[in-house]
Amino acid sequence: MIMSGRRGGAPLPQSAPRPGDEVLRIDGLEVEFGSGPARTTALRGIDLTLHAGRVLGVAGESGCGKTTSALAVMGLLPRGAAVRGSIRYRGTELLGLPEKELRRYRGRHLAMIFQETTTALNPVIRAGDQLMMAARAHVRGSRADARERVRAALTDVRLADADRVMASYPHELSGGMCQRVIIAMALSCGSAVLFADEPTTALDVSVQEEILGLIRGLVTRRRLAVMMISHDLAVLADVCDDIAVMYRGEIVESGPAPAVLGSPAHPYTRGLLDCLPTLQGRRDTLPELPSDPAGTPTVPGCRFRPRCGWAVDACREPPDLVPVLAGQPRTSRCWRSTAVLGHGAREAGRAPGIPAAADHEGRG
Ligand SMILES: Nc1ncnc2c1ncn2[C@@H]1O[C@H](COP(=O)(O)OP(=O)(O)OP(=O)(O)O)[C@@H](O)[C@H]1O
Ligand SMILES: [Mg+2]
Repeated sequence: MIMSGRRGGAPLPQSAPRPGDEVLRIDGLEVEFGSGPARTTALRGIDLTLHAGRVLGVAGESGCGKTTSALAVMGLLPRGAAVRGSIRYRGTELLGLPEKELRRYRGRHLAMIFQETTTALNPVIRAGDQLMMAARAHVRGSRADARERVRAALTDVRLADADRVMASYPHELSGGMCQRVIIAMALSCGSAVLFADEPTTALDVSVQEEILGLIRGLVTRRRLAVMMISHDLAVLADVCDDIAVMYRGEIVESGPAPAVLGSPAHPYTRGLLDCLPTLQGRRDTLPELPSDPAGTPTVPGCRFRPRCGWAVDACREPPDLVPVLAGQPRTSRCWRSTAVLGHGAREAGRAPGIPAAADHEGRG
């Protein structure tokens, strides 16, 4: 993996972070895959901050760069991916650290859970042995200490019959149980940051709610800093304190979840919200918006312009991500943020929607 970033930084604090402490700071993160004509720019300068005891939701359509953001922090992007910018964990720059050093952070400080629980666990090793291996790999101490931490973690993820779970192979556990085992793995290692990449998408709705409630509880009790990745704004609305909406490798809107979801300031966020199912049952599932690869656009200016019902001539210049209103922790990458925000306040009706990808002019 090609990386550039500032090396070193403050020594790692040994104490647990306090609620609200900044634990992870991503600045200007850029990621490119491949080279020459096959080059894909997946991230174009992402800034994100995670705080202890808070959940940051990252939303956006397929291919906008959600998973790439998390994998870049974990140091899990494939070889050959070019990564630039800065990723600081409690003051220490991670970008550019040798793999051996980064491995100390992965698992012990930074953990990630995925949608596909079956691939995250080794199918031929009992769950308990996998938990013990992880607990012992990352934290020094006796076998008895590790077993104690694993048991505490299993209790914390509300897996009542810990003995049976530990003696089971992954295929003997349900999807929801596997996801709990994986979360317990992160807890038993003492991770302070959890990346949850569509952690409930593959689960039944009732199990989904249990897992989301569980994560929310752990955020409060263990002061975890969580990045919750989802294409589903309804899921994020339930669990997140803050939201960042991504479009084609950029953040287009961010801020406290109630503000962003209650009165969006970017036409793309508005469009995503318009696709949510309603209580009246007009839509019973979230319609898939057209996929929109993060390739280089051939149109100048705002990357969302070809799909935007709010576009004006000014949008031929690329907008920056700037505060929506002075004194508020909200940002939007739109020349017309104030109008979009005002429209939401004035009108109960629908805002301009998102035309289908086929309508795009010059997609990249
Ligand atoms: N290993 C890779 N090699 C080449 N391109 C990649 C690779 N991984 C991701 N990409 C590209 O980077 C962009 C961002 O992908 P990413 O997986 O981060 O999207 P995502 O927002 O997580 O999408 P989804 O909701 O489908 O999971 C996409 O254009 C994708 O095709
Ligand atoms: Mg993804």
